[in-house]
Amino acid sequence: MTRRALMAGNWKMHKTAAEAKLLAEQVAAFGQGVTDRDILLAPPFTALGGVAEAVKGTGIIVAGQNVCWEEQGAFTGEISPLMLKDLGASAALVGHSERRQIFRETDEMINRRLRGGLDQGLTMVLCIGETLEERESGQTMEILEKQVRSGLAEVAAAQMIRVVIAYEPVWAIGTGKTASIDQAQEAHGFIRRLVVDLYEKDIAASMRILYGGSVKPANIDELMAQPDIDGALVGGAALDAESFGRIINFS
Ligand code: PGA
Repeated sequence: MTRRALMAGNWKMHKTAAEAKLLAEQVAAFGQGVTDRDILLAPPFTALGGVAEAVKGTGIIVAGQNVCWEEQGAFTGEISPLMLKDLGASAALVGHSERRQIFRETDEMINRRLRGGLDQGLTMVLCIGETLEERESGQTMEILEKQVRSGLAEVAAAQMIRVVIAYEPVWAIGTGKTASIDQAQEAHGFIRRLVVDLYEKDIAASMRILYGGSVKPANIDELMAQPDIDGALVGGAALDAESFGRIINFS
């Protein structure tokens, strides 16, 4: 089974609307002629409209960095799936470790966000990953299992076609420390087997699992050569068009 690679840039809380639009145009230029893989950009909410406009017609997917489960209502500070779609986004990240750790989002909340986005037709990227402490105490697989099971709770098999999982070891995010190729492949293989258990073989075989955590031009080729690594979720190296351009064009 060959899965279409997905190369995603998470811009976090970087770039004004004008800066984001410029970066999106530059990324689109690097992505020109790239037809055998998908490119996704997740700018801050404030830049979504401009980015969507800049990449219109290129096939680049625009995503929110988070999304609420409700369509509208008294949810100060939140953005609904309808609002994302209104600005031209068709996807959203949920469960990023910065949301889990800094903003105390729980597995239950992340699951609601995921289901809310799926119900509105968005492609959802569920981010999971263990902390250094969890890895060092031998709990990695247990933590991943808990995050996958609770993240996908009550998600119907038919909706799994729009679910992507991003494995991001917390200790590798923004630290310059990438998981070793073996550590990454081991986690990805584990996640895929888990999805076989939760759903079925075909769903697991076609689901994309991205690696994230200090992905850069220097390590992308080796990562993408692993059988269960289907793409990357890139933070720091996605803020520069040339380095993200190189990542998109991995060989
Ligand atoms: P990084 O971030 O590439 O800067 O490590 C990845 C992420 O948080 O998605």
